[in-house]
Amino acid sequence: MGVVAMDGPSGTGKSTVSRRLATALGARYLDTGAMYRAVTLAVLRAGIDPTDAEKVAEVAERARLEIGTSPTSPTVRLDGDDVAAEIRGPEVTTAVSPVSAVARVRELLVGQQQAIIADAAAAGQGIVVEGRDIGTTVAPDASLKVYLTASAEARARRRTAQDAASGRVSTVDATLADVQRRDRYDSTRAVSPLRQAEDAVVVDTTELDIDGVLARLLELAGSRGLRT
Ligand code: DC
Repeated sequence: MGVVAMDGPSGTGKSTVSRRLATALGARYLDTGAMYRAVTLAVLRAGIDPTDAEKVAEVAERARLEIGTSPTSPTVRLDGDDVAAEIRGPEVTTAVSPVSAVARVRELLVGQQQAIIADAAAAGQGIVVEGRDIGTTVAPDASLKVYLTASAEARARRRTAQDAASGRVSTVDATLADVQRRDRYDSTRAVSPLRQAEDAVVVDTTELDIDGVLARLLELAGSRGLRT
């Protein structure tokens, strides 16, 4: 089995559905957003301004990332520490956009992502890779490219519910403004902006729940011969 590229903005259910798809296909799973988040945490820990591209690049060169690719228990280590929870916090979420816009950071992480994909292929395993530039840059030869979308309002509603579930108080209006700000930033940055690959299948999740999205993805995977 080959590579499934899962791209799209946040709040589309991308992580949940990518993990479930990988589990259903018996494939590995790679969350590239977690890698940008881990580098961002390294920047914050070093006390560096996330908009200082040169210093951010230096931190990224030194940071030692270890990414586990099990879809049922993905792990993220930074310099030996388990940082899976910390990279989801509001400090990292605020600072990750400028860090992920640094060309050198992207070059380093795309190289690591391609090595992880090559490793899965060498082991004869498929891999579901989620991010923003997987179908366009990281794995342009992926067997299946999916671009998940949903209306900004639906994404803001889901994010607010997720925040509430993890004990963070937010309002739909404030979250919607944040979602729109991040969309603008991620899709207009100079290096590797968020955009749909020409050969990606668009799946709009506004009106679908996770089971509905998964059913559609399994159908697509079946049509590409990716189901065993
Ligand atoms: O999917 P996420 O929210 O964990 O991603 C965190 C940030 O990293 C988000 O602002 C976009 C960026 N990102 C990226 O630029 N390229 C990727 N392949 C994955 C994430």
